[in-house]
Amino acid sequence: MSPPRTAAIIVAAGKGERAGGDLPKQFALLGDRAVVAHSYRALSDHPAISDVVVVIADGQQSLLAGALGDVPHVTGGATRRDSVRAGLAAIGDADRVLIHDAARPFLSATMIARLLAALDHAPGAVPVLPVADTLARGVGGLGDVVDRAGLVRVQTPQAFHVASIRAAHDAWPDDAEATDDAQVLRAAGHDVMTVEGDPMLDKITHPADFAAAEARLTARLISRSAAGYDVHRLEAGEELWLGGVLIPHDRGLSGHSDADVALHAITDALLGTIAAGDIGSHFPPSDPQWKGAASDRFLAHAAALVAERGGIIDFIDLTIICEAPKIGPHREAIRARIAAILRLQSQQISVKATTTERLGFTGRGEGIAAQAVATVRVPGV
Ligand code: CTP
Ligand code: MG
Repeated sequence: MSPPRTAAIIVAAGKGERAGGDLPKQFALLGDRAVVAHSYRALSDHPAISDVVVVIADGQQSLLAGALGDVPHVTGGATRRDSVRAGLAAIGDADRVLIHDAARPFLSATMIARLLAALDHAPGAVPVLPVADTLARGVGGLGDVVDRAGLVRVQTPQAFHVASIRAAHDAWPDDAEATDDAQVLRAAGHDVMTVEGDPMLDKITHPADFAAAEARLTARLISRSAAGYDVHRLEAGEELWLGGVLIPHDRGLSGHSDADVALHAITDALLGTIAAGDIGSHFPPSDPQWKGAASDRFLAHAAALVAERGGIIDFIDLTIICEAPKIGPHREAIRARIAAILRLQSQQISVKATTTERLGFTGRGEGIAAQAVATVRVPGV
């Protein structure tokens, strides 16, 4: 028997009226990407899921393209239920489906696995959390407290056997509202299993929820530091580039590109924070196109790779090791230049210098060495 085929539907066809803002909430920016792009990535990266279909409203095509590029999508309807039905019609012969709100950006692989495992025991499974706050009726002043014992908050994704949920939606009365799909399956007489929910899955509904989502995004980041080191030879007739600044000196550095040891050490430190190899693996010294090249492009490339992983650069600490020239007079220019390349503030760049007491190759003035430590925050695994 072939393994079951699992599809995912992201419903993103709402207007987001309660959240306000210039764009419907699912297309608003959260961190470095649109709200919908967060759960899209979690679903499409998951090995058990073969297809992800996004349901959007008519007219949201360019918003979707801006958020996710060219991805499979269909047009939804006036209610969430209409949108789900459009999604169910678009997933072909899938056996299992996860139906998820675009407005719940933080979906973990653990949650996906938990829901799919539950489908081995029931035709439907939903994540739920207990209600912690006191609940009371509240229209026109405080009314009676509602007993919260036995109440749960129901989240998405909700997981189903496709045949069961399709049949349940077909049987649901057209004039009745359904804010989720589990109630539709239950109404058709099926059991829905509950699994432990995740506070990270809370829905963005009101304007204040965006601030909470941003805070959750930052809380998911972990700090990483990595070191970089480089040496180049000092030779007559070369320019001396250090930290992206041309420094007047009787000799200059020779070697790969413009031989800016300081930028090379920082580039390696940044690549180290995301375990992305070293400068030589990205820009081989044997490749003639890098001969004499300005090193700021190597550093900008490393910064772009960190950003691509959802990372933020917090701090760079650079040490230049040489007998001459004196670095002090150029320190502020170097800080400003590195900050400009990395789009950071100068306060996030530390530039130090030391001699080696005339010992070794730096002490004899044969070359200049640089070491750097980069500190970044990247999404935890
Ligand atoms: N949704 C949908 N089609 C609809 C209505 C809602 O696909 N006709 C989606 C929303 O885009 C959202 C999810 O269903 O991802 C949950 O709905 P809700 O939080 O109510 O979002 P909106 O309807 O967009 O917001 P509001 O009710 O504040 O207008
Ligand atoms: Mg709504």
